[in-house]
Amino acid sequence: MEQTLSIIKPDAVKKGVIGKIIDRFESNGLRIAAMKKIQLDDEKAGGFYAEHKERPFFGELVSFMTSGPVVVMVLEGEDAIMKNRNLMGATNPKEAEAGTIRADFAESIDANAVHGSDSAQSAEREIKYFFSENEVL
Ligand code: CMP
Repeated sequence: MEQTLSIIKPDAVKKGVIGKIIDRFESNGLRIAAMKKIQLDDEKAGGFYAEHKERPFFGELVSFMTSGPVVVMVLEGEDAIMKNRNLMGATNPKEAEAGTIRADFAESIDANAVHGSDSAQSAEREIKYFFSENEVL
């Protein structure tokens, strides 16, 4: 069993598609092991995306991620990291395959509906960034 961190971003929360996105996970063998709706501030969003600090899109990324509440989740299942990435589709929704979450619910590379950990190492860091051990059940 593997765990990964998923974030439903402010665009998808505002659109009212939290349930539809969670259904994609649960219908495809990913269990919700933890979940909360939170409002990120600059420090929390900036720390989460610290690896992108020097990228030209960092400022916009932080301002987008703090523009409204997000839903953070721990997804658990066999090959959870890869399975979640396949369900999300490409980072840029214009390149995402039909039937993926980003193709169906996202507008742009910034407002791309969801985030998912990209490796086992990031998953471990990202889960700890939002959840204490006793919140992952
Ligand atoms: P996410 O998977 O949350 O990780 C970093 C985010 O930066 C990414 O999704 C995009 O929403 C955003 N982003 C904006 N511009 C770019 C870019 N040129 N390349 C990668 N990510 C970008």
